[in-house]
Amino acid sequence: ASYDMGGHDTYMHKEISEQAEAVDRVLRGRIDDRFSTVHLGGLNLDPREARGIRRVKILGCGTSYHAGLIGAGLIEGMARIPADAEPASEFRYRNAVVDPDTLYIAVSQSGETYDVLAAVQELKRKGARVLGVVNVVGSAIAREADGGVYVHAGPEVCVVSTKCFTNTVVAFALLAVHLGRIRDLSVTDGKRIIEGLRKLPAQIQEILEGEEDIKKLAAEYAEAKSMMFIGRVRGYPVALEASLKLKEISYIHAEAYPASELKHGPLALIEPAMPTVAIVPDDDLLDKNRAALEEIKARSGRILAVAHREQEKADHTIVVPKNEDELDPILMGIPLQLLAYHTALALGRDIDKPRNLAKSVTVE
Ligand code: AGP
Repeated sequence: ASYDMGGHDTYMHKEISEQAEAVDRVLRGRIDDRFSTVHLGGLNLDPREARGIRRVKILGCGTSYHAGLIGAGLIEGMARIPADAEPASEFRYRNAVVDPDTLYIAVSQSGETYDVLAAVQELKRKGARVLGVVNVVGSAIAREADGGVYVHAGPEVCVVSTKCFTNTVVAFALLAVHLGRIRDLSVTDGKRIIEGLRKLPAQIQEILEGEEDIKKLAAEYAEAKSMMFIGRVRGYPVALEASLKLKEISYIHAEAYPASELKHGPLALIEPAMPTVAIVPDDDLLDKNRAALEEIKARSGRILAVAHREQEKADHTIVVPKNEDELDPILMGIPLQLLAYHTALALGRDIDKPRNLAKSVTVE
């Protein structure tokens, strides 16, 4: 498919720039202020069934898997249901125990990724309940699932996913509020998250307006041969996704680690030639994250922090607007899409069609 680039040089840039409207779309018509909850028309899960769920297992590949990791955190945090995410490509080959009280959720932009589809078919054959969190309406995974949430990111052409990642995480936040309000999420917490969700489009726009500054940083970091990305708990999947984005389009080697794991090995890599991008939200883990920055600085590592205020241990800080702690990962990923983009541009890469990759992997 070919769509108008709307004045942008690449689809990736167009798609990054569209995120405020895209998030507005995934929220539209789904918020219920009267009961401080969220309605999801296609879910096909009544409240009694929702109360019976004992676990949530989220399956996807690549960027969609990373969105699923954040989604698992949102569901576990708000609905208090144990939740985790796993690459669908691994799950389908390990003869996993399929449990009738587990809700399985398949995540996919295209809705056609073979590993995800095969996992869904195997689960359905074993009698599991499977929902889809999918972008492309009527795609194979959407049709195979028992119900689900459409992500409404609109068409995504660039091989690497940006706006669909963001919208998928917002879709998970909606699902988490929905499940949470049927279970243990209070009215006031439901209201707090809903208000946070409504702030996202304007905050995303504010981040996008900082593009020129990020472009300058990218010129500097484009010289690196290798980069480290770190985050903790909610910030870790953000680090994973940012490192994937960078390697996919710039071909710079990048590693992502939980900040807490640095001292268990990867700290050995830290030196001036290995810069670190650190996710440092103003939440209950701020002090812990700052301690990791100190460890890196003590080894002469360069640090680029994504934070809610300047970090003195960092060489550079990209300051993003604060939302509710639960929703901060959505915003913190966005400047790092721009960082990957401008790094790849500085290196002269073919951004919309990175080497060796396809938009959707519909074969084994
Ligand atoms: C995204 O940047 C990648 N192209 C890739 O990891 C992708 O997310 C993965 O192949 C899954 O695709 P899907 O979301 O269409 O299922």
